[in-house]
Amino acid sequence: MSKDKLWGGRFTQPTDRFVEEFTASIQFDKRLYHQDIRGSIAHARMLGKQGIISLDDVENIVHGLQQILHQIEAGSFDFSISLEDIHMNIEARLSAAIGEAGKRLHTGRSRNDQVALDIRLYLRDEIIDICTYIDLLIDALLTQAENNLDTIMPGFTHLQTAQPILFAHHLMAYVEMFKRDRARLDDCLKRVNVMPLGSGALAGTTFPIDREYVAEQLDFPLITRNSLDAVSDRDFSLEFLADASILMMHLSRFSEELIIWSTSAFRFIELSDSFCTGSSIMPQKKNPDVPELVRGKTGRVYGNLIALLTVMKSLPLAYNKDMQEDKEPLFDTIDTVKGSLKVFADMIKDMKVYDDNMRQAAGEGFSTATDVADYLVRKGLPFRDAHEAVGNAVKYCVENEMDITELSLAEWQLFSPYFDSDIFEAITVDACIHARNVPGGTARERVWDEIVRSREAK
Ligand code: ARG
Repeated sequence: MSKDKLWGGRFTQPTDRFVEEFTASIQFDKRLYHQDIRGSIAHARMLGKQGIISLDDVENIVHGLQQILHQIEAGSFDFSISLEDIHMNIEARLSAAIGEAGKRLHTGRSRNDQVALDIRLYLRDEIIDICTYIDLLIDALLTQAENNLDTIMPGFTHLQTAQPILFAHHLMAYVEMFKRDRARLDDCLKRVNVMPLGSGALAGTTFPIDREYVAEQLDFPLITRNSLDAVSDRDFSLEFLADASILMMHLSRFSEELIIWSTSAFRFIELSDSFCTGSSIMPQKKNPDVPELVRGKTGRVYGNLIALLTVMKSLPLAYNKDMQEDKEPLFDTIDTVKGSLKVFADMIKDMKVYDDNMRQAAGEGFSTATDVADYLVRKGLPFRDAHEAVGNAVKYCVENEMDITELSLAEWQLFSPYFDSDIFEAITVDACIHARNVPGGTARERVWDEIVRSREAK
């Protein structure tokens, strides 16, 4: 039981011990300590500049807060559940250390605008960090693409062999996705990077504060324009969680492919031992744990988005305690995304590519049938007729258990008089790739152009 609260004035009964624990957020919001202290220092300096508190008080407050920062970083700060959250833990300690001046720090401020500030400061740095991890992953992919410009693989639709492509082209598809993920986060950052302090509990403050000065000290290009909105909304966190979900969706699809490619049925790639584990019963097993886990963790990142959307969906303006539930989904997503990106970049760098297996698979499953049809079109046949002629040729091959490359010229001519001896070189996997020479296509020089373009954009 405790009645020693910073807000204890109007209360006669102490808080129940269990309720205290139930309502506290210090267990998880202590990770905002740095932002909380940084924000308080900026706020105190502004109060001093405006003559709302004395410059002596400012000096004591700043010094006191710096001491607290050192204590927290040295692990010697005692966080207390009865002080509820990081804001009151720090403020109470400050007042205990420096007396009167500490109690003046909260002038013209509320925990509602304070916590909004802390989250924005925190998320801003984390987004920048996550973008760096995306860059590392893109870099690893570009290096693998450069090394695999002559590696041919089967491209799939419906996971059925479709047409031959360069392995580099496949990797570059992910580069495009991760570039968009990064661009989305850059854009999200614009809306995170807005300074809410000065909104007070919900309506602003009666003190002659200078919000721009606080924004300047904290490197915010903008301040929020409506005090209710500033303390009520968490759309900037939601936007981040949505962007993170899309990013994880991309990582999860990539994981799925790595898992399939490493099976003994495919054997297109091998992940290095450090990203796999064995089985306790089957001695031959080497399991792709890392991509499996990234695929699995995608579920919790989606869950975090839905959790916060659901927390927010019916809240009347302005602040409601429900909003304390915004932090754990946010922190968990940040940790999960950073971990997944980091491990992925290293895994891609170390991945071994079995180009012979890929090339062999690329030539199977009638992967060049479209090119046979295109060949007939170039000879003058309308595409629909060409499609049918090749369909008949494929049926013939299936019935006679042979590959399309094994047909003789006489056999080809059973299906169309347009076939000539140049058909044989038109349907090698190399020719099929070479022929797709359109911007965004899989021809070697087109893929190379995109690698160069992506390298230059960095
Ligand atoms: N720990 C609270 C949170 O994370 C801080 C804001 C509290 N404001 C209040 N009016 N109780 O949301």
